[in-house]
Amino acid sequence: MQQPVTVWDAPVRLFHWAIVVLVGTSWLTQHEGWMSWHFYSGYAIGTLLLFRVLWGVVGSETARFTHFLAGPRAALRHLRHLARPEPDEQVGHNPAGGWMVLLMLALLAVQVGTGLCANDQADTYGPFADALGQHLSDRLTDIHGLTFTLIEIAVALHIAALLAYAALKRHNLVRPMLTGRKLLPAHRTPPRLASPWLAAALLAAAAVLVTFVVVRFGST
Ligand code: HEM
Ligand code: HEM
Repeated sequence: MQQPVTVWDAPVRLFHWAIVVLVGTSWLTQHEGWMSWHFYSGYAIGTLLLFRVLWGVVGSETARFTHFLAGPRAALRHLRHLARPEPDEQVGHNPAGGWMVLLMLALLAVQVGTGLCANDQADTYGPFADALGQHLSDRLTDIHGLTFTLIEIAVALHIAALLAYAALKRHNLVRPMLTGRKLLPAHRTPPRLASPWLAAALLAAAAVLVTFVVVRFGST
């Protein structure tokens, strides 16, 4: 007997698809030279990351870092069984995917952090670039460019992993990230879900904090 179980709460799903749209927006706005919008997009990503870290501590069970960060041995064991077709009974990220998630969140955080300090040696200066001086801001701008390449590689691996799960294990991981639900055997305990109101309050707090830091300490 199988039953539909909510494995991803709405905040995690909204976070994910908003990040996808905003990373695309950040690339496009930089490419087209729409730098004010590049900054806004970056602040929005920063806000979402701050929210996701808080949600990773107090949010729904599958969103919590303690739930999806397993030891390296569990991750390797999982990868060894990658080619084995078996029913999808995973509630939340698998032990290998959890580390990939952490890596992507960390890369995005570095991207936002260095963006705040970057400059284009012409008329665009991140809000903290002036305070750091030209030399340090230039180095952080280099890192900003390099980290974006790393994000592109990580996203390519992320999508390759989803395709591998579909091809080798016949697992559709994308549908649950859209609908939240997965069919699981009746004996699996559904994860505990945290209140969406708590998520809204944390997102609002993250937005206020990012706005305060940029307006109070930034110079643009
Ligand atoms: C800019 C591109 C992308 C970035 C930065 C990104 C980042 C992430 C992150 C950070 C998570 C963890 C979510 C969380 O726990 O909060 C995740 C999970 C996931 N992403 Fe993406 N993602 C991207 C594109 C995509 C695309 C295009 C798809 C599908 C077509 C996708 C499908 C998924 C799925 C299915 C999961 C859950 C995997 C699982 O079951 O453990 N992602 N992604
Ligand atoms: C608050 C956040 C951000 C600020 C203030 C910011 C600022 C800047 C500035 C001033 C530049 C110009 C550097 C140059 O012309 O060499 C730049 C370039 C760039 N930014 Fe951002 N950025 C932010 C976030 C992001 C994010 C989140 C992404 C992508 C996920 C991103 C992707 C890029 C890319 C691809 C470049 C071009 C790098 C290169 O020329 O090598 N930025 N950013």
